[in-house]
Order: sequence, then structure tokens, then C-alpha cells
Amino acid sequence: MTDDLAEMTLSLTDHTRFLVTTAARAPSVHNTQPWRFRVSARAVELWCDPVRKLKTDAAGREMLISCGAALFGLRLAIRSLGVIPVTELLPDPARLRLMARVTVGTAMPADEWELRMLRAVPHRHTHRGPFAPGPLSAGLVAGLQHDALAEGALLALVDGGLAYDRLAGFVAAAARRGDRDSVARAEIRRWTRGRASTARDGVPALAFTAAAGHRPGTLQQRDFDLGRGLGRLAAGGEPPPVTAVLLTDRDSRGSWLRAGQALQRLLLHAATGWVFASLHTQPLENAATRRLIQDRLALPGRPQMVLQLGRSATTLATARRGPQDLAEP
Ligand SMILES: Cc1cc2nc3c(=O)[nH]c(=O)nc-3n(C[C@H](O)[C@H](O)[C@H](O)COP(=O)(O)O)c2cc1C
Repeated sequence: MTDDLAEMTLSLTDHTRFLVTTAARAPSVHNTQPWRFRVSARAVELWCDPVRKLKTDAAGREMLISCGAALFGLRLAIRSLGVIPVTELLPDPARLRLMARVTVGTAMPADEWELRMLRAVPHRHTHRGPFAPGPLSAGLVAGLQHDALAEGALLALVDGGLAYDRLAGFVAAAARRGDRDSVARAEIRRWTRGRASTARDGVPALAFTAAAGHRPGTLQQRDFDLGRGLGRLAAGGEPPPVTAVLLTDRDSRGSWLRAGQALQRLLLHAATGWVFASLHTQPLENAATRRLIQDRLALPGRPQMVLQLGRSATTLATARRGPQDLAEP
């Protein structure tokens, strides 16, 4: 079959399970998975699911970043079917829940790099455990910065020294504030799962530590345990070699979707070489702290995600709901 014929005869509904499962492996705040999909022959619509929005995320910024991450996975999955996905962000102002429509474009086989990123989808994970010692391979960080730019975002590196110390201070202060915030604590209780849980969403005990301590060079983790002794993940290890902030030029629903696509693209790129990230968004959930981080670190944009990257030979896949639960009627 020629490429053109393949494009004409491709029906996305024949691939619904693959497309939705790949998209839904994206990271999402507290593993809320705030997304739904409507698949037709020539298009997939991605809808957000505000029932799953956190109360600490009033504007929906983190929900949209999560949806953006799922959108990148969806694009990659469509790409692997040998066509170029054509993405329209927020295509219908009358339907605010509709995040994106991705349609089948011209035929072109996926390249080896795209297929490597697709193969990294199952082992990409948020890494809260120990990192292995050693630097990242030469060129990786520049590659991740290129990924961010290609998706309309910017990955600003935070070198050791004053900027890092300031950022670490903001993260630690936000963690202390979170400890006292009854709404944030209730959200964490709602979205964390004990060892025996069969839930397909939320953050499982195996993915967080019992004591969210903080060591030099390592940004404080969000406390998912809340003193309950649930966390099963080992602490310790080496400080991750790279700290970065993902930025967009402004704050809008489109920018948040772009940040999410950039996030998943760079995380998958990193995961091709078994490099993973810890994510630290607590300080960005407070508008004043978010502005301070931008000012004090002289960041050339609005901070959307704070991350640290390091190597690890281990992976831990957290649960996802299946395509049957994710269909937008
Ligand atoms: C917008 C956003 C914010 C997040 N914030 C944090 C955070 O502050 N701390 C953290 O440990 N993980 C954070 N995460 C990671 C999620 O908890 C994680 O993606 C989810 O539990 C699913 O696990 P996985 O990434 O290992 O597949 C965030 C993810 C997203 C998309």
C-alpha cells in the first residue's frame, strides 16, 4: 500500500485502545488523569474532566498542563501510525472543556527517534526515589531544551549557587505551608492510595516515601504521606545533576497546554536514556510565590513546572484508568 493510500484508508477508531492508552500514560497532578477522549475515524478530541480538578488548582493550570502532556502522547501515537497529526488547540470557544482536536494529516512514516520516544512511554515515570550517581550524557540537556522550544516553551536551567538556593528555599517553604493547609492535605488524602488499593488513579504508596525529607542538592518532595506511614519508597541516593524550570511566555489556557506538551516531550526524550525527573510544583500553586520565583531567579517567562533530572536503572509504572473509563460521550 502506498503512503497516500495508507493515509486515506486509516481509521483512528481501529486504534482507539492504543491511542488512548498511550496518551493516558502521561503525568498528571496527583495522578488525577483529568482527561477524556472522543475518537472518530479521522480525528481524536481531547476533553478535560473538571470533576478531577484539584481544589488547590482553582484556575485549572495544573489540570491543563496534565492534559497537554496527554496531548503530546496522543500526537506521538498518531505519528506512529504513519501520518502527521494536525493539532488544533482549544478549537471551540463555546466548548471550554474541549482541549484539542487532532486530525489525520499527510502520510509520512514515523522516524526512529519518534519510535524511541514511543517505546519510552511505559517506563517514563515521576522519580521520587534515589537517583544513580553521575552526570547526564553530553548533549541531553541541550536536547531537552530544544524539545521545550519546539513545543512553544522554554527550559531554564537553575545552576548551583544562589539561584538554586533560592529555589530550594521556595520549595521548602511551600512544603511547610502545604503541611498547614487543610485543603491541600485533604486533596492529598483523597488522591493517595495505600498498598492494598486497587484504584487506577491517585499516587500509590510504592511511589512516595514515608518521610519527605530533603537533602543538599535535592529539592524537597511534596509530602504525600502526611505522617500516615503509608509511603513504601526508599529515600536517599545522589542529588540529581540537573535542576530546571519549564517556562511559557504568558499564562493562558493555550500556554498551559503547550507547557504540558513540552513536559511530556522532554520527559520521554530523557526516558529514552533512562533519565527521569522529580517534579516539584507546590511553590507554583501560590500566585505570590510563583511571581517571586520568576523575579528572584530572573526567569524569562512564567514558571509552569519545577523539575530535577537524574539517572536511574529502575522504573515504577503507576496505574491508569482504561480506555473504557476515558470515553467522552
Ligand atoms: C502539573 C503536574 C504537577 C505535578 N506536581 C507534582 C509535585 O509537586 N510533586 C510530585 O512528586 N509529583 C508531581 N507531579 C507528578 C504526578 O504526581 C505524577 O505524574 C502522577 O502521580 C503519575 O505518575 P507518573 O508520572 O509516575 O506516571 C505533577 C505532575 C503534573 C503533570
